[in-house]
Amino acid sequence: MADRFSLPAGAVVADQYRARVRDAQHDPEAFWLAQAGRLAWHTPPSAASRSYFTGDVQISWYADGQLNVSENCLDRHVLTQPDKAALIWEGQEKGQREVLTYRDLHARVCRLANVLRRLGVRKGERVAIHLPAVAEGVVAMLACARIGAIHVVLFGGFSAEGLAERIQDSSAGVVITADVARRGAKLIPSKTTMDKALALCASGGSVRHVLVVSVSGVDVPMQEGRDLSYEAEVAQEEADCTPEVMNACDPLFLLYTSGSTGRPKGVVHSSGGYLVWAGLTHELAFDAQPDDIFWCTADTSWITGHTYVVYGPLVNGATVLIYEGLPSWPEPGQWWDVIDRNKVTVFYTSPTVVRAAMREDEAVVRARSLASLRVLGTVGEPISPEAWTWFSEEVGRGQCPVVDTWWQTESGGVLITACAGQVPGRPGAAGLPLPGVEIALLGTQGHTTVDGEGEGLLCLSRSWPGQAMTLWQDHDRFRQTYFSTCPGYYFTGDGARREKDGYIWITGRVDDVVNVSGHRIGTAEIEDAVATDPEVVESAAVGIPHDLKGQGLVVYVVAREEGRLDPARVARAVGEGVGRYAVPEKIYIVKDLPKTRSGKIVRRLLRKIAADELDNLGDLSTLSDPECVQALIRQVAEQN
Ligand code: WT7
Repeated sequence: MADRFSLPAGAVVADQYRARVRDAQHDPEAFWLAQAGRLAWHTPPSAASRSYFTGDVQISWYADGQLNVSENCLDRHVLTQPDKAALIWEGQEKGQREVLTYRDLHARVCRLANVLRRLGVRKGERVAIHLPAVAEGVVAMLACARIGAIHVVLFGGFSAEGLAERIQDSSAGVVITADVARRGAKLIPSKTTMDKALALCASGGSVRHVLVVSVSGVDVPMQEGRDLSYEAEVAQEEADCTPEVMNACDPLFLLYTSGSTGRPKGVVHSSGGYLVWAGLTHELAFDAQPDDIFWCTADTSWITGHTYVVYGPLVNGATVLIYEGLPSWPEPGQWWDVIDRNKVTVFYTSPTVVRAAMREDEAVVRARSLASLRVLGTVGEPISPEAWTWFSEEVGRGQCPVVDTWWQTESGGVLITACAGQVPGRPGAAGLPLPGVEIALLGTQGHTTVDGEGEGLLCLSRSWPGQAMTLWQDHDRFRQTYFSTCPGYYFTGDGARREKDGYIWITGRVDDVVNVSGHRIGTAEIEDAVATDPEVVESAAVGIPHDLKGQGLVVYVVAREEGRLDPARVARAVGEGVGRYAVPEKIYIVKDLPKTRSGKIVRRLLRKIAADELDNLGDLSTLSDPECVQALIRQVAEQN
């Protein structure tokens, strides 16, 4: 059998990296158990993995270990480096800046943890966090971790319905939100949206209290008995709080993400394995150093923010930066100034941000120093060789490794990258699986593996510590979604190509998930929102290439009666059902959708028609009504 762990011949990597891969290969259990030594445990684990991908599927890491995550991220560092900056926060208004040392952050977290306990939050209960880019977002997550509450961070761009769906599914007891979120010149009414969401959950709603952080000080309606001022509450509490001792497999958080079918999935991450993975991957991928100023630009409501704004850097005792503002408001170059002002050493962002910066005048980036930068990274979507090279040359000034990191909500942290300083980067390729990460490319039927050079479905053949344990209250869906396509493997939903020397290129999702500027959007969610309009018979959402966003959404809608439905109304339904961020580029009202004889919508055709790739539509003979295609092309052309 092929040696699944070893590096392919020809891969030029640092000796230390090669040795790590060899160790992981030689004795994975010992390798992963040694990694548990990164953390401080109340009870150290005696074994690493008890996971399996067959039968009922179990993901279990460090099962008999006990720890508290917030203690690992705070108390440990308060002992050794209390005055080191843990968190630098910059607001979008000039001069707004706050530095929280490890001592300060610990105190803030403890005060809020005490508030939550006083409000009756117990170990295992869910707390929803719906905050903009303010320090309290980090404080809230760690306060939950301190008392063993499971946090559910919700994106500020979700509509009231989107919020309600997730709050109900997780049956959160307490919500932490803000009066407003600042976004350039706009104020986003966070509290008002949350009120609407909670009204939608009203029957049997689980939420007892809403803590409201004052971001801008505007007055918002407060519901007597339910809503409380965050500032007033924390002011009453002590700056110390005894941490709850948790089992390694107790959930640390749920995070909702989209799949190809059905409602958003509550991905459940563990306390022990996840934290090991956050710390290890932060160190390996970015070659983390003690004096780093680490800036991951992701919102904390995404997994990237969880792992590389909060848990990875803080468990490693680093300094993280959070910036509230947009890259180009009030004028281009804001983020380069943030880097210079704060001497950022590691800058981790998305290809969408890089593409947008590429379109600006070169003088903008060249007018800045950027000399503090040491490592650059991207995540969330493929980065083209052109964008990679621009990032490397213009932002990195040819001096910084650029790490494209491939991973997902379900993986907890990076799985494939060219680790800075260890593995040479290659423009457009994601890199190599991290030491101990065992990937496999499978044939489209999910039964044969593609060895060596080739292309296939991207799978993992064994668990890793950061792997999600299950979906919230739906282990069966977990099993179905990830372990049934390729039996015996975890299937990622992505396709990939492997080069001779082992470098992996991600070819994109092979399911019905669309990646718009790094936002993962399930086409089924869009279609569900569209279907709420009584004039809609059916619809199909597809992704097409988009210069700036990577992919754009296009929706085809069949209306009950001609002339009674217009695209703006469909767009509104998506905005209300999912959120503004998911509103499609283009909506076509059509008479019919192309289907197979068994009634399945042929999305491949819809994608090609939307992308105007009409010369190679492929075999139409399997359609129930091949004529429909020409009619569709005509209708689309009329609406362009
Ligand atoms: C999906 C996961 C990883 C945290 C942010 C997104 C796509 C992610 C890359 C990359 C190509 C990528 C994949 C993946 N993706 N990173 N470096 N190159 N594609 O997490 O929302 O769970 O989305 O994003 O399709 O499956 P997510």
